[in-house]
Amino acid sequence: MRMILVGPPGAGKGTQAARLVETLRISHISTGDMLRAAVKEGTALGIEADRHMKTGGLVPDAVVIGMVLERIAKPDCANGFMLDGFPRTVPQAEALDAAMSAAGIALDAVVLIEVADELIIERVTGRRTDPVTGTIYHLKYAPPPAEVADRLQHRKDDTVEACTARLDKYHGETEPVLPFYQAKGILRRVDGVGSLDEVTARLMTALGRV
Ligand code: AP5
Repeated sequence: MRMILVGPPGAGKGTQAARLVETLRISHISTGDMLRAAVKEGTALGIEADRHMKTGGLVPDAVVIGMVLERIAKPDCANGFMLDGFPRTVPQAEALDAAMSAAGIALDAVVLIEVADELIIERVTGRRTDPVTGTIYHLKYAPPPAEVADRLQHRKDDTVEACTARLDKYHGETEPVLPFYQAKGILRRVDGVGSLDEVTARLMTALGRV
């Protein structure tokens, strides 16, 4: 299966992707994770990305498109992949479409996780990530076990200001991508409010995997 998980910041894309790829046995490709790894390594790409990410802006299309097209051509993606956080702009969607057509492959599904803006700030400001396992927690909704509490990290774009900017980018640049997939008949909408298990079950139903 080749698919995209899309939704506003804090919708639960990373949380749900980690659960789904185990069952679906496909590769999880998170552009946010790839860019944060580049920032941590201090590569040229990371230095460029950091300038945009810390204020909630988008990293330029040319940088991200090259990174993703290279990644989906790797052998572990031959049996399928789940893109999380890409495409985020119409040019990114068009570049993905062109590259996949040229490779003779197509997307099976684009799943939109819907969460109202009012809930997003609380989700994002309460998020904590375990740098050792990559597990995503929430102080209230997915509380971390005591033994990992001391090592948890809070993303620097998880402030109210940066999250507000990210929401603006989502509505202004990412939502316009949705009609592209609606027209292809592969867009599915899933309610992202509920327990983690409830949302996973809805996603599996949307993917026809129940
Ligand atoms: P990225 O890392 O992709 O961030 P995002 O899309 O804003 O999404 P988040 O990671 O914030 O949220 P999520 O939906 O994964 O939610 P999560 O599961 O963590 O991108 C970061 C930045 O990188 C961008 O701003 C941009 O600068 C750059 N970038 C990335 N891709 C790019 C691209 N293609 N082009 C240009 N720039 C790009 O959940 C959030 C919290 O909610 C957690 O604490 C979780 O525990 C909790 N939670 C999850 N589900 C539930 C639930 N059902 N109920 C209650 N709480 C829940």
